[in-house]
Amino acid sequence: MKKILIAIDGYAACGKSTLAKQLASHLHYLFLDTGAMYRAVTLYLLDNNINWVNNKLLNDVLDSISITFQRNENGKIHCLLNGDDVEEEIRSMHVSNKVSEVAAVSAVRKFLVQQQQIIGKEKGIVMDGRDIGTVVFPHAELKLFVTADMDTRVQRRLLELQSNDIQVSEEDIRNNLIKRDHEETTRADSPLFKAADAIVIDNTNLTPAEQFQIALNLAEKIIGA
Ligand code: CDP
Repeated sequence: MKKILIAIDGYAACGKSTLAKQLASHLHYLFLDTGAMYRAVTLYLLDNNINWVNNKLLNDVLDSISITFQRNENGKIHCLLNGDDVEEEIRSMHVSNKVSEVAAVSAVRKFLVQQQQIIGKEKGIVMDGRDIGTVVFPHAELKLFVTADMDTRVQRRLLELQSNDIQVSEEDIRNNLIKRDHEETTRADSPLFKAADAIVIDNTNLTPAEQFQIALNLAEKIIGA
């Protein structure tokens, strides 16, 4: 069967990763959470007190970062930073508050996009992020752009963090999402926007199962064609 590359882009906390994981699992494809890669770099820079603004040595710092993914015993994919499991830490507000700033730095983007393009060469992959259908794989066979209204996004992120025992107020989440939306859509390098040929899925009133079915139908049309 023909293997394709599926690019899923959209705003923070819109359910992109949920959809990407469901599609990858159903199609027996690889899933790559590119946001986790930006989060891991952010964690590394924060932990090591490294300035990312106008830092001439940033490329050397980046060369000392290795990001890998591993499936744990419960089947959940965890992100490893230089071999350490950082899956929980990269989802903290501490990282969420800085990740969009770090993701705006061109050296960081170049470093991660290169790795994403190598991984994606294999096809049979679902990649989610902000610039997958526009920059990383502009020729992806299927491009989805996922959106939802702000209240829905806030509630989803709140539940997600609470289920991981991370206590944070609704207001902090809302402010973080508003700030990141602004930073991501206005940055000079690879801003978030819908590729001309991407299909929009507004999942405000869709269950994860309904959203999955819509995306799967689209993918199967291409795979079967
Ligand atoms: O999970 P959430 O939607 O909050 O965000 P994420 O997918 O984990 O991505 C974290 C951050 O990385 C985003 O807010 C973007 O600033 C950045 N990012 C990016 O610039 N390009 C990507 N391809 C993926 C993420």
